[in-house]
Amino acid sequence: MTYFDTLWDALEPIGRHAATGGYRRFAYDRAELTCREWFTSTAQAQGLEVETDRNGNLWAWWVPEGVDPLGEALVIGSHLDSVPDGGAFDGPLGVVSSFAALDAARRDGLSPTRPIAVAAFADEEGARFGIACAGSRLMTGQLHPDKARALVGRDGASMAEAMSSAGHDPAWLGRDDDRLSRIGTFVELHVEQGRGLIEQGAAVGVATSIWPHGRYRFTFRGVADHAGTTRMQDRHDPMLTYAATALAAGEHARRTDSRATFGRVEVEPNGTNAIPSVVRAWLDARAMDESSLGDLLDVITSRAHACAEADRTDVDVLVESVTAVLDFDVALRDRVAAAVSAEQGGAAVPALPTGAGHDAGILAAAGIETAMLFVRNPTGVSHSPNEHAEREDCHAGVEALTAVVKELA
Ligand code: GLV
Ligand code: MN
Ligand code: MN
Repeated sequence: MTYFDTLWDALEPIGRHAATGGYRRFAYDRAELTCREWFTSTAQAQGLEVETDRNGNLWAWWVPEGVDPLGEALVIGSHLDSVPDGGAFDGPLGVVSSFAALDAARRDGLSPTRPIAVAAFADEEGARFGIACAGSRLMTGQLHPDKARALVGRDGASMAEAMSSAGHDPAWLGRDDDRLSRIGTFVELHVEQGRGLIEQGAAVGVATSIWPHGRYRFTFRGVADHAGTTRMQDRHDPMLTYAATALAAGEHARRTDSRATFGRVEVEPNGTNAIPSVVRAWLDARAMDESSLGDLLDVITSRAHACAEADRTDVDVLVESVTAVLDFDVALRDRVAAAVSAEQGGAAVPALPTGAGHDAGILAAAGIETAMLFVRNPTGVSHSPNEHAEREDCHAGVEALTAVVKELA
C-alpha cells in the first residue's frame, strides 16, 4: 500500500451516493467541507502550513528554511468538488497525486529554491452556483465578486450565504494580487476525460490546449394550461420550443464537430397534466476555435427565436460564462514532457488538447506559467460514475508529477 493509496482510500467514500455510485461534492456543502477537512489533516500530517484564501481556495505550503516565503512558488493541485453524480477522479486525482508527489520528492531529499504549495481550488465544476472554476476566476479577477456573491444555487442559498455558513467571509472575495504574485508556476494533474491516452497506449500525457467553451441559460416562456382541454393549435408550449432548440443544437454540433449539451433543465410548474409556463435550460457549448463557438451559439440562438415565433412563446438567452481558447505555454509543456519521459526511461509522452475546462486554464489565462498532466482513463468516460483510472496508472501519474516537481522546484 503506497502513500497515494492511503490518501485515496481516506478521501474516496466522502460524498459518494450509495444508489448511483456517483459523487455529490458541491461547493461548501457537507461532503465538500469534509473533503476540505481531509485536505487539512493530510497537509498537517505532512507538516505543511494550511490556509484558506480570500476566495475559498485551499493551500498547503512547504517553505523550507532559507527559501523566500514570498518567492514565486511552484503550485501543484486541482479541485475536490464534483458535478452531480460525477466520478471519483475528476479533481481529487490531482490533489491526492500532488500530496503524494510532494511527499515523494521530499523523501528523495529535494532541496527547492522556491516554496511549493498544494492547492485545491474552490467550486471548479460550478455545480452548485453555475459558474465553473469560480475560486480560480475570483482569485485572478475573471469573476466579479459581486456577481459571485449573488449567484444562487438550486437550494436557494447564495454563494455569499453558503460561504458564510461554512465560516468564510464573502466580503473578502475578489482578485488576490498578493497571492497571484506568489504563484510562479502551476501544474495540474488530471484524469483524462477522453480516449487520447488509450489510443496512444500511454499512462501519462501533457496538455496542449483547452477548447473555448461557455454556459448559456435559455429561458423559454409560454402559457400554462390544461393538457387535456387545450387544443394543440391554441397552445403556447415552451417545452416544444426547448425541444426544437435542443435538436437544432445537437444537429449543428454534430455537423461541425463541436459540442452542444443541454444537461440541465427546469420546468415550471412541472406537472404531468399541465402545459408548462416556463422551461429553463442550460446549454454547455464548446468548439475547436472561437469562431466555431460563435457560429454554434448564433445558430442555436437564432433557431430558438425562430421556434419561439412559430410556437408563440418567448425565449431569452443569458450568457453565464465564456472561456476563451487556451494554449498552454509550449516551453513549459516541453520541459514537463521531457522530465516525465526521462522518469519513464525515454518513453514518448503524448501531448493532447482537451474539451474540458480546468483551473489550470484560468491561471494560464491570467499570465501564470502553467502546465497540465493527464492520466489515462480506461473508460474514456468522465462526469459519470464510470470515470476510472487504474491504480497502476495513478501511481505512474504520481511518479511523473514527482519528476516534474523535482525539475521545476
Ligand atoms: C469541467 O469539468 C468542465 O466542465 O469542462
Ligand atoms: Mn469536471
Ligand atoms: Mn476537473
